[in-house]
Amino acid sequence: MSANNRVFIFDTTLRDGEQSPGATLSSAEKLEIARQLAKLGVDIIEAGFPAASPDDLAAVQRIAQEVGTLDGPVICGLSRAIEKDILTCWEGVKLAAKPRIHTFLGVSDYHLNYITKTTKPEALEIVRKAVTYAKSLCEDVEFSPMDAGRADPQFLIEVCALAVQCGATTLNIPDTVGYVMPQEWGELIATLIAETPGAGPGSGVIWSIHCHNDLGMATANSLAGVMAGARQVEVTINGIGERAGNTSLEEVVMALHTRPQYYGLTTGIHTREIMKTSRIVSNYTGMPVQPNKAIVGANAFAHESGIHQDGMLKNASTFEIMTPETIGLHQSRLVLGKHSGRHALKVRLQELGYTIEGDALNQVFGRFKELADAKKNVTDADLEALIADEFHKPAEIFSMDDIQVTCGTMGMPTATIKMRKADHSAEFIHAAVGTGPVDAAYRAIDAIVKVPNTLIEYSVHSVTAGIDALGEVTVRISPEGDERSFGGYGADTDIVVASVKAYLAALNRMLAVLGYGEMKPEGEAATLSLKHP
Ligand code: KIV
Ligand code: ZN
Repeated sequence: MSANNRVFIFDTTLRDGEQSPGATLSSAEKLEIARQLAKLGVDIIEAGFPAASPDDLAAVQRIAQEVGTLDGPVICGLSRAIEKDILTCWEGVKLAAKPRIHTFLGVSDYHLNYITKTTKPEALEIVRKAVTYAKSLCEDVEFSPMDAGRADPQFLIEVCALAVQCGATTLNIPDTVGYVMPQEWGELIATLIAETPGAGPGSGVIWSIHCHNDLGMATANSLAGVMAGARQVEVTINGIGERAGNTSLEEVVMALHTRPQYYGLTTGIHTREIMKTSRIVSNYTGMPVQPNKAIVGANAFAHESGIHQDGMLKNASTFEIMTPETIGLHQSRLVLGKHSGRHALKVRLQELGYTIEGDALNQVFGRFKELADAKKNVTDADLEALIADEFHKPAEIFSMDDIQVTCGTMGMPTATIKMRKADHSAEFIHAAVGTGPVDAAYRAIDAIVKVPNTLIEYSVHSVTAGIDALGEVTVRISPEGDERSFGGYGADTDIVVASVKAYLAALNRMLAVLGYGEMKPEGEAATLSLKHP
């Protein structure tokens, strides 16, 4: 493979992905995801949009410092084509060993006429100033002509040539609204590469593509772009992102990996980290992965029909084009149950990619024993759910001690909950009635936490088959008067307990991001005071 066979993976989970409705993440969660992305082997992490808020800037700075090491990924920040934003972006990324500034301007007639309200010559002037300024701060500059999929190709060539002339080293061509079809996209990328002065083969400029999935074409379009000569693909984990999402990392990477004869291209991705990364992103964003999602969906390697099962037993290649192990999904060789010890658990977790020792191992072992008492065989999926429930959650502001519910046809569903502030400074007990046990529990929690919010999504599903299965609950809530939303995840054999855990995780995430760090108990319920008024 020559250098020209290498496709760079630019991950924008923490920027475009975080723009998904409901995917708001705290700084600590962003940092942990960034660490996992580095482990996965992505080449570039777009860590955020530093000018969007002081919190975004702080999160990008932390990632730049802690993940942007010399042997780690390039750390990139996004910025509008405005000098003050570009400077803030530089403040965000400059501590990385390999920083990048990514600036963009809408170039379709829709964007020129309705958003920036500029003529084409004025837009060219904005690009000239922005890229020149970015280059004066940072050696590595990426420029994106936004909504390129609907822009005039001749104008695109002019904009791209100017960006390169002013110092851009990567030209990223976005199909911002997911409008184009694979063949026309491939042709457009080939034309841009061939006809943009100063950016052809041998110029050192990297062509990149950034596709949205509004018509379900994001992966096909990205691969068409790669076939046409692009060598950077912008992707997110699980394909999360604005509206229908972005191109999903796992789909592009596994297509290149599974069809080497067809593409003849490689990436630096350690494919065995894919599943773990997918789970972490799903748990932290509170966005479940659809079961039939390519590569990382729960059914992606499940074989239901008799003919398929028969074929699989004879030879796995009859119905599997890649092995589950390639993406880090393991077939259990060891069945864990109530007689399994700490060592067996530790080894199994290690095989699943989790190195857990000391107190953390004791904690997981305690949960494992409880689970093994409730169900005979503890599967890998159960262990993954347990790890997510224990570790992939926000720092606790409130935590639950106990819950009791009564429900059924003979009375009003009632929940009594005992909670405390996680720093042990206050304890609360509250009872409430509701339309069902989960509603009653959520009402009791609301009476304690006292921060108005709306439950906008609630979903429950079982991790494995069987009446004794673990239930996984995902919720999403939105604070009053705020369009952001926050996800939470919980797992337990009791679905009311799982529901409470998920709700508390979402509440804790919301309270942390809104700055409700310091709480004063007042009477029976807590009064929260803003840390940053
Ligand atoms: O979709 C888009 O156009 C973008 C740009 C900022 C690259 O996200
Ligand atoms: Zn985008």
